[in-house]
Amino acid sequence: MVDYRVDNQFAVLEINNPPVNALSSDVTIGLYDGILKALQDDSVQAVIIIGKGKVFCAGADITAFSKPIKGLGITDVGHAIESSSKPVISAVYGVALGGGLEIALFCHYRISDKKAKFGFPEVQLGLLPGAEGTIRLPRLTGLPVAMEIITSGRQLGAQEAVKYGIVDKIVENDLLQEAKTFATSIIGKPLDSLRLRTKKVKNADLVDKYYDDALKEVKRKYKGLIAPVSCLKTIRGSAKLPYDAAAQLERSLFTELITSSQSAALRYSFFAERSAAKWRLPNGASSANTKPGTVGSAAVIGAGTMGSGIAVCLLRAGIPVTLVEQNEKLLKAAQTNIDQIFRGSVQLGKMTLEKRQECLRMLQGTAQLEKVKDVDIVIEAIFENLKLKQEVFAKLDKICKPTAFLCSNTSTLDIDKIASATSRPDKVAGTHFFAPAHIMRLVENVYGSKTSPETVATVMELGRKIGKVSVLSKTCDGFIANRMNKIGVEAVYLVEEGASPYDIDQIMEDFGMSMGVFKVLDLSGLDVGWRIRQEQAKALGVNLTAETKYLNAERYCSLPDKLYELGRNGIKTGRGWYRYDPANPRKPIPDLDVLDIIQTHCQNLGIKRREITAQEVIERCLYATINEGFKILEENVAEKPSDIDVIWQYGFAFPRYRGGPMFYASQVGLRKVFERICYYHATFPYSKHWLPSDLLRKLASSTDEIPINQWMNNWSSKL
Ligand code: 3HC
Repeated sequence: MVDYRVDNQFAVLEINNPPVNALSSDVTIGLYDGILKALQDDSVQAVIIIGKGKVFCAGADITAFSKPIKGLGITDVGHAIESSSKPVISAVYGVALGGGLEIALFCHYRISDKKAKFGFPEVQLGLLPGAEGTIRLPRLTGLPVAMEIITSGRQLGAQEAVKYGIVDKIVENDLLQEAKTFATSIIGKPLDSLRLRTKKVKNADLVDKYYDDALKEVKRKYKGLIAPVSCLKTIRGSAKLPYDAAAQLERSLFTELITSSQSAALRYSFFAERSAAKWRLPNGASSANTKPGTVGSAAVIGAGTMGSGIAVCLLRAGIPVTLVEQNEKLLKAAQTNIDQIFRGSVQLGKMTLEKRQECLRMLQGTAQLEKVKDVDIVIEAIFENLKLKQEVFAKLDKICKPTAFLCSNTSTLDIDKIASATSRPDKVAGTHFFAPAHIMRLVENVYGSKTSPETVATVMELGRKIGKVSVLSKTCDGFIANRMNKIGVEAVYLVEEGASPYDIDQIMEDFGMSMGVFKVLDLSGLDVGWRIRQEQAKALGVNLTAETKYLNAERYCSLPDKLYELGRNGIKTGRGWYRYDPANPRKPIPDLDVLDIIQTHCQNLGIKRREITAQEVIERCLYATINEGFKILEENVAEKPSDIDVIWQYGFAFPRYRGGPMFYASQVGLRKVFERICYYHATFPYSKHWLPSDLLRKLASSTDEIPINQWMNNWSSKL
């Protein structure tokens, strides 16, 4: 775990704990023993700590946080390093993050490769740097900079780290060799002033002002998160208290955080995101045993908002794109739109001018479908209509080379039906991007009954290559994301029963959703839902009216139709569930007219309105969604609950500190969730989504709460 060797006058302690040299107990013991050995060896004049492989150290071992602590802590090692009578130099390559940076800060000197990154990402795990990082960083950088670095969790480049005194020297060549040269130059120099514990915090008398300013900023930027506030408290302690008392405060706040539900959710989210890339199909094929096909070129069919956004993602990743539209006029509009996105990125400093030009060179627009014949992958992004898509796929099948993968950006349609229009259903998959595609990080990849493992591997790898978080779903109506989302449906029913749309939005935002559902509906336009409902009614031969209470034996609420028919189509018409001032069209304003419309609707239908609590709003919106999530797991549409949660975090901005709806259910307790679902099922028999999931019923019937990572084992073993 830590390789110890003596090389001339240097002891080299090489952390060797792949993949990221996390500080497991074996590593901390190895470092501690290494320091003691070096101190006892008279031939050793200086100690160099370095990481083996791609990084110096990614910090504490996150997998060990939920287990009992054993062995030595990072601070025990740190104190041994700091008090060493021989100089200790950390040589950083790759990253020094969290506990890794704390180890480096205990060293007397830090040298760095020019591409190395430094940071305290603990807040992203709901924690604070708990090995005296909050006490030591302010002693180097000053209070305001330390507050910003620690509460944001951002990574600093080597140059910035030098600017703040975190790094003493950036080196260009072989890191270990440079470390030895550096060490030779400092051997014999006094170490006292290099021990951070002896340094004073600059401008300590101004700490309350810095604290107040930073607190305001943190509450605005990281609404609902407790860790950044705790970070500020311990940084304030670093200025107000003697070193050891400040360290004790840090330890006690760290202990509070590590046992908090927010940290549990954030640590779960860290691993959930990484495990989404590790997929397994019911036939045993998996990311571990399947090679993706090569994607050196792509075509996007349909250059509307989605198609253009998808093209941007591919171009940014260096994949040449043939963009197909029906005519030159539409193509031109799309190309202008794409260039505008690139220009915006250049303006924001996210893209260089050269990169923009390179992307534009790789974009070829055409109105002739035949031009896609040589591409490796096609992503269709036309109107959401099965017949149209089948026509396009039949044509693509004839035009494209036999090895080409054919994908659809459909958000709901059956991949098997789309694939049936081709002679290569094994090469057909769904690649469901979320709008706006060039910004949203989620892609829901969908496989049908005939999609080959190679095709699945290819779309999952493509997602990674273009910087997206890819999650795999089996085909079904709406896939994981749209099928599961019952928030909008229940929110409208709640309005009909007595709640105000504005209260519902506020309650869900207080829960942590970034935007209430009625604001979202106004943003996307009420016409979208209206059209879908009209189609559904037409297919059933039903004429929808203001009095319609049931459609296909399901509860129906005509309020959204009423609003749309009154011209309240959301932001685009200046009125929807909210009203919008033309001078500030992004700011929704509650509208008394809407409350009147609701009142009249209820009177006409004889609905007696009642008081609705915040708890009921949360339960109705989330438990209905969670119940569908369990059905999705039962049917193997999602392979694991964490995949569902990743979709909710990245597709619907579910608060990461709550983990996602499935994790939230595990925290509330499955028995409690199940009981409430049964209650709502009995109360609302005409809402099929309340029919309790069998999987949930089985899990809830267990005498012990079953941890979320064991839900699926439990289910499979009971099949
Ligand atoms: N502990 C345990 N496992 C870790 C880890 C850590 N600190 N950091 C990464 N890993 C694991 C990942 O889960 C992944 O495992 P997998 O291959 O089985 O999926 C593997 O290492 C590789 O990680 P990535 O896929 O993320 O690889 P990248 O190359 O994309 O990124 C990284 C590398 C930048 C180091 C990134 O993994 C990262 O940001 N890690 C988290 C760092 C962090 O949060 N450190 C703070 C820990 S808390 C702490 O130190 C507390 C202290 O103050 C007391």
